[in-house]
Amino acid sequence: MHPKSGSFTSRDRDDQVLAQFGSPGAAARYAAEQEGAGSSARFAAARRRLVLRALSSPPGPEVLDLGCGPGQTASALLPRFRVTALDRSPAMAEECTRRCEGAVRAVVGTVEDLPLLDNHFDAVLLLGVLEYTDAARVFHEASRVLRSGGLLLASMLNPGCPHRVVQLQVKWPLLRLARAVERALGVPPERRHGRVEHGMRILPPRAVRDLATASGLVPAGVTYFDPMRPLPAREITGGWRASWATGYLFEGRKP
Ligand SMILES: C[S@@+](CC[C@H](N)C(=O)[O-])C[C@H]1O[C@@H](n2cnc3c(N)ncnc32)[C@H](O)[C@@H]1O
Repeated sequence: MHPKSGSFTSRDRDDQVLAQFGSPGAAARYAAEQEGAGSSARFAAARRRLVLRALSSPPGPEVLDLGCGPGQTASALLPRFRVTALDRSPAMAEECTRRCEGAVRAVVGTVEDLPLLDNHFDAVLLLGVLEYTDAARVFHEASRVLRSGGLLLASMLNPGCPHRVVQLQVKWPLLRLARAVERALGVPPERRHGRVEHGMRILPPRAVRDLATASGLVPAGVTYFDPMRPLPAREITGGWRASWATGYLFEGRKP
């Protein structure tokens, strides 16, 4: 592994992201959520199907998985692709190496400042990581390391979906308020409502497309996935159903 440090935004946001993904316990918790029967697992499975489909006529063998987390996507790409997996959390990179039985090149580094060569990769994946980063810098870096004709796949939570609107604009602010009131009233920390600081910045597809274009990529489409029940769990390319999908996958190409 190649250690690399670097800060990308405010210290607060950095701390929140590290608290969420930095420790071995956090990596194990995240991995378990992705594999259970809950909403995170359903989201991850729907997205993985789309990613594998987009890679089914492969642009070439070299794939870079940025913000790889515990490596579920990386392991699904083996042995068809040569995978380089990068994460700023050493615990995540280690979990990814373990899951892939050493068959990936795992790199510890930040996606805003990639310790990787120009024009090298046939496909770059940004799955669930843009939310935590300086997205404009990440697109420039992803575009730099993609070879001409290479494919970029970037997923984002869908900010317009009712579930997300309620979570971000109602539920989490109310929980923060409850914690603040409990702190002011002297309620002991272990009895206060849970922390909901996360460091996420969620962008609509239009903003992601603009960032991709500004970094020299050509947008090739957006697919929405994981619609809220009771809509059938198929993919959606537009219309009113799109706003009921909890995530979307952006595709771009380097000309
Ligand atoms: C929500 S998880 C996504 C993991 C995996 N891609 C997936 O889809 O399951 C976000 C991952 O991005 C990593 N991450 C967050 N900010 C990062 C940054 N600036 N540079 C590199 N990795 C980062 C976190 O450590 C975490 O492993």
